[in-house]
Amino acid sequence: MSRATFYTQAMPDTDKLGTDELARVLMSEERRGWQNPEKVVRAIGVTRGMVVADLGCGPGFFTIPLASAVGRSGLVYGVDSNAGMLSYLRDNLEKIGKTPIGLVKLIEADVAQTDIPSGTVDVAFFANILHDLTEPSKFLREVRRMIKKDSIIVDIDWEKKESGFGPPLEIRLSAAQSKEILRGGGFKVVGSVYAGRFHYGLVCRSI
Ligand SMILES: C[S@@+](CC[C@H](N)C(=O)[O-])C[C@H]1O[C@@H](n2cnc3c(N)ncnc32)[C@H](O)[C@@H]1O
Repeated sequence: MSRATFYTQAMPDTDKLGTDELARVLMSEERRGWQNPEKVVRAIGVTRGMVVADLGCGPGFFTIPLASAVGRSGLVYGVDSNAGMLSYLRDNLEKIGKTPIGLVKLIEADVAQTDIPSGTVDVAFFANILHDLTEPSKFLREVRRMIKKDSIIVDIDWEKKESGFGPPLEIRLSAAQSKEILRGGGFKVVGSVYAGRFHYGLVCRSI
């Protein structure tokens, strides 16, 4: 089986999957083969004691390394509107109970309306979600509310290029389109993180 065929079977059109199958795909070893969440978290510069919001966290592919990075003195909010995804995240956190991870607070909510206290978040992180939102401006207003003045905002999403798996091409946002949306929400792109060959990673600050 070619590498491309293997990935196509392992990561099908993610828009068509139910919660259980999507959660499996999101946490799969196949995904780790082309996207290393620990490296992404290191590249962002998440450190001990930080407060991080993982918005649209799913079963925890990034939430878990984020929690390890902030340690027990930090805090990670895992926000998702799908209770099933949060249940997978809870199980996945329990499975690695021996790892020294920081406190993870699960919030079942729309990312555009969380109860994260205002002005408290050091890093607002969102992966594979901006392309799915019908009202990104509402979401970005909520991000602005929760962050501190000098916070980092990280948007990771699929390249708008045929990959044979992942969300359909027509709903993906190119990096340029995402930059435009982020700018409209009051954020300027100041750098990038490598998030694997199928994704871009934009690092932003408030304008
Ligand atoms: C493709 S998954 C990505 C999960 C995770 N960020 C990752 O990269 O592994 C998108 C997640 O965002 C959640 N989601 C989508 N729209 C949302 C919204 N408006 N509010 C909260 N969560 C949302 C979905 O339930 C799903 O768990």
